[in-house]
Amino acid sequence: MTSFSTNIKSMLTRRLVFIVGLMMLGTLATSACAVQESNTYPVETFSEMHYSQSFRAQEPPRLAPPADSVAFRTAGDSSQTYNVPDKQERAYDPVVAGELYRVNCSVCHGISGLGDGKATRHITSGSSFYATTQGSPYGAPPNLVESAASRLTERDTMVAFVTSGAVVMPSFGKLLAEEDIRDIVNYIFDDTTGLSQ
Ligand code: HEC
Repeated sequence: MTSFSTNIKSMLTRRLVFIVGLMMLGTLATSACAVQESNTYPVETFSEMHYSQSFRAQEPPRLAPPADSVAFRTAGDSSQTYNVPDKQERAYDPVVAGELYRVNCSVCHGISGLGDGKATRHITSGSSFYATTQGSPYGAPPNLVESAASRLTERDTMVAFVTSGAVVMPSFGKLLAEEDIRDIVNYIFDDTTGLSQ
């Protein structure tokens, strides 16, 4: 009886070791190929990932209120209306702009804008969807400091490029508000606290 239960026990232990081993192998296998390079997009940047209820541009169209309507705090008393300020143009703040750059651009262009972000090796990989369908890999994300100095030297030109994107470079017009894009471009050109220092 004892040897029978010992047998069962050792059988269960062996099975447990086997299952745990399998799970560890599985984790290793999936983490090794966590970046799926053969997808249609070299880096998956879907607008859904950026969806935020506070960002109006991503909401469906709505009927505008009548032009002369006002918001009342209490019904009928015109001295009790809310004053909603017009959308203010935001002052450039390198800390805010730097964070916007870090979150949205550094994965490809690198923290210092040199074109050495973590996604670069996947964009330029020979097994990327682009490489396997076009015959050669896509170019690495450009150095943005150089770009501001010698290629897209006008801020408006760079804002337009970032808004519309190009093949691998996402169209940020659908992902960020115009003030955010302007802030990021100011940060790229900023030669005291930004990327061009
Ligand atoms: C998914 C990777 C990726 C992300 C994220 C990305 N870029 Fe790019 N970017 C690229 C690639 C690749 C190019 C080259 C596109 C081309 O011309 O074919 C590029 C080109 C550019 C250029 C043109 C530079 C030149 O001189 O040709 C600018 C400016 C730029 N990106 C700014 C940005 C900014 C600002 C952000 C963040 C809001 C950003 N990029 C986010 C990949 C990326």
